[in-house]
Formats: sequence, C-alpha cells, structure tokens
Amino acid sequence: MEDKQRNILFSKEEIKEAVIKVGAQITKDYDGKSIYVLSLLRGSFIFAADLVREITVPTTIGFMTTSSYGHGEETTGVCKIVQDIPDNIKGMDVLVVDDIVDSGITMKFVVEHAKKLEAKSVKCCTLLNKPERRKVEISPDYFCFEIPDLFVVGYGLNYGDLYRNIPYIFNWENK
Ligand code: IMP
Ligand code: MG
Repeated sequence: MEDKQRNILFSKEEIKEAVIKVGAQITKDYDGKSIYVLSLLRGSFIFAADLVREITVPTTIGFMTTSSYGHGEETTGVCKIVQDIPDNIKGMDVLVVDDIVDSGITMKFVVEHAKKLEAKSVKCCTLLNKPERRKVEISPDYFCFEIPDLFVVGYGLNYGDLYRNIPYIFNWENK
C-alpha cells in the first residue's frame, strides 16, 4: 500500500460523537427493559465496548464469532458460526452489534439465528452501513454512519490481520 495514502473518513472525535448519539437513542428506546448486546467478533469489539458504555439500561454482553470473509475484501456469500452465543437468549431483547453491514449476509443470518433461539425481540446496530452493496434485505435499526461502496478499515475493521487498532476510520487513495 506504499503507493497509496490514507484518507480519513471519520476521525476519533466524529466516531465518539456518533456513538454517544446512538447509545442515547438505544437507551431511550429500551427504557424499562434490559438488553442483551450480542457483539460479533472480531470486527465489532471496539465499537461494542464504546457503545455499551453509552447505554444506561441494564445490559448483558455476549460475543459470537461468525465468518464469511476469508482474508480478502469479498464475502464468500455464506455465513458460518465459528463460536456460538454463550448464553440462553430465550425471552431476551437482543441487540446484535456489528462493525459494518455490507452485503447484509452476516447481519441477516445472526438476526435469524437469534430469532430461532426464541429471543423476545431482535434489533440490529452497526457502526457503518454500506447500503449500495446489499445482497439480502436487511436495514439496520441503528447505525452511526452511512458510507458509499468503499473498503474501509480502522476502529475494529480489518484488512487481512491488520488495522483494527487504528482509532479512526480510513480508506486508501492513490497518491
Ligand atoms: P456482510 O456479511 O457482507 O454484510 O459483511 C459483514 C462483514 O464483512 C463485517 O463484519 C466485516 O468484517 C466485513 N466487511 C465488509 N465490508 C468491509 C469493509 O469495508 N472493511 C472491512 N471489513 C468489511
Ligand atoms: Mg472483518
């Protein structure tokens, strides 16, 4: 990537502001209830960690690992469970949290999975929404930013094994 430069789409400060806003909206919508936040690994670990600290209703956090991407930029089209939900979510209000809804295959699969396990309600929240790329019908109940068809990294999002630890969101552009 040496011939390219980083183009910052969302700074640390912009992300923080957006996460506070979405957290406040979730707190309002779930007033009087408790939430089971289901964070999808690995991509959502940073977003979920920041988001749950903005939610003030009683919250339980569980993690699930799915896989649909090898090491590249394209989904294989099939979502597999690598590590399932560690708790019984029957009767719970589940909020699935992911880093990005791209084709939508992962989010749709996990929402349906939680419904099969008899969650009382299932909603979804994503840091980034990339609607142009949708292959299945799903629209996030909550998102921080909508982006065009760009491959982005940082703040949990990876390319290969790298960039999840970068505190802002960027893509590459030619120098
Ligand atoms: P989907 O199943 O196609 O919606 O993709 C969901 C997963 O693909 C996310 O959890 C990410 O791990 C990955 N992904 C999709 N788009 C991007 C991107 O622009 N950058 C990094 N990862 C992405
Ligand atoms: Mg990923």
